[in-house]
Amino acid sequence: MPAAIEAHDLHKRYPPAVRALNGVSLTVEAGTIFGVLGPNGAGKSTLTRVLCTLTRPDSGRATVAGVDVLRDPVQVRRRIGVVGQKHGSDPNATGRENLVLQGEFYGITGRELRARVAAALERFELADAAGRQVRTYSGGMARRLDIAMGLLNRPAVLFLDEPTTGLDPEARALMWTYIARLAAEEQMTIWITTHYMDEADNLSGRLAIVDSGRIVAQGTPEELKREVSGDALHVELAQRDGGEARGTVERIPGVSEVEIDGRVLRARAADGGAVLPTVLAALEERDIKVASVKVSRPSLDDVYLRFAGREFDRADPVLPAGAS
Ligand SMILES: Nc1ncnc2c1ncn2[C@@H]1O[C@H](COP(=O)(O)OP(=O)(O)OP(=O)(O)O)[C@@H](O)[C@H]1O
Ligand SMILES: [Mg+2]
Repeated sequence: MPAAIEAHDLHKRYPPAVRALNGVSLTVEAGTIFGVLGPNGAGKSTLTRVLCTLTRPDSGRATVAGVDVLRDPVQVRRRIGVVGQKHGSDPNATGRENLVLQGEFYGITGRELRARVAAALERFELADAAGRQVRTYSGGMARRLDIAMGLLNRPAVLFLDEPTTGLDPEARALMWTYIARLAAEEQMTIWITTHYMDEADNLSGRLAIVDSGRIVAQGTPEELKREVSGDALHVELAQRDGGEARGTVERIPGVSEVEIDGRVLRARAADGGAVLPTVLAALEERDIKVASVKVSRPSLDDVYLRFAGREFDRADPVLPAGAS
């Protein structure tokens, strides 16, 4: 089966000095959920917009559903559904009116249109609210309507740009079930961008971690986590370290990758639980006070730390054009 999405060395700059895409290549197999994870400003929306033919790359190539996005954008648009980062519905129209309008945009009419709209309302549990103006919807309902609209033309590939940002945990969890069900029932290829680690981990078969316009890691969530070997030790010190805590922990056998970041000492160990008492005893002996400790299995956050060299929520959003 040909790949659903193929991108090769995509570059895109925004004047004067932002490298939004800095050489992105990837392949998405048909019928899978592909997650694109990255902090604010990483380039997720730009990449999504290039693949959806909403903006042109400066260089590079891409095909979506087998069609070249630069040579035949009209054919690409027929084969995809797009749910942008911002709401796509008209708040003053009802849910049903929005769906009808979207269907008409695709040239769907009459009985076929009514059937698709009814099925969409049913699938996303919006039938009861179909006659209400969208401005009265909750955030989760409005987002579900956005996705229902993106599906009306029965796309081969559905692009979702941050579908759960701003939703409360319950609405997010509900959205995940809708997306997972959609992928399973329709064997659709789903592209989903997010800045939530747990979302990428839970939903995507494969994922790419994007940072500063580049893919810094790619694979299944499990593969990515396996690349980071060992448990993570996180020791919060009562005071900033002058170098003594780091030196002390570095000398302990079985502990590696010791780093200090403000009051936090981070390290890795094959068996974090086993080595922790030794770490605490060594610090105690030097009178270094500890505020809290945590041992955790490798997470996607660790993957990000490994590949981007800093923590996910500290990522600096903008890379000036001259910077690399
Ligand atoms: N139309 C534009 N004009 C100028 N700069 C832009 C434009 N669109 C995006 N950028 C810049 O390009 C970079 C990548 O932005 P992009 O929106 O693709 O990131 P993102 O990963 O989607 O971020 P977020 O999580 O905040 O949505 C950012 O530095 C952003 O400021
Ligand atoms: Mg974005």
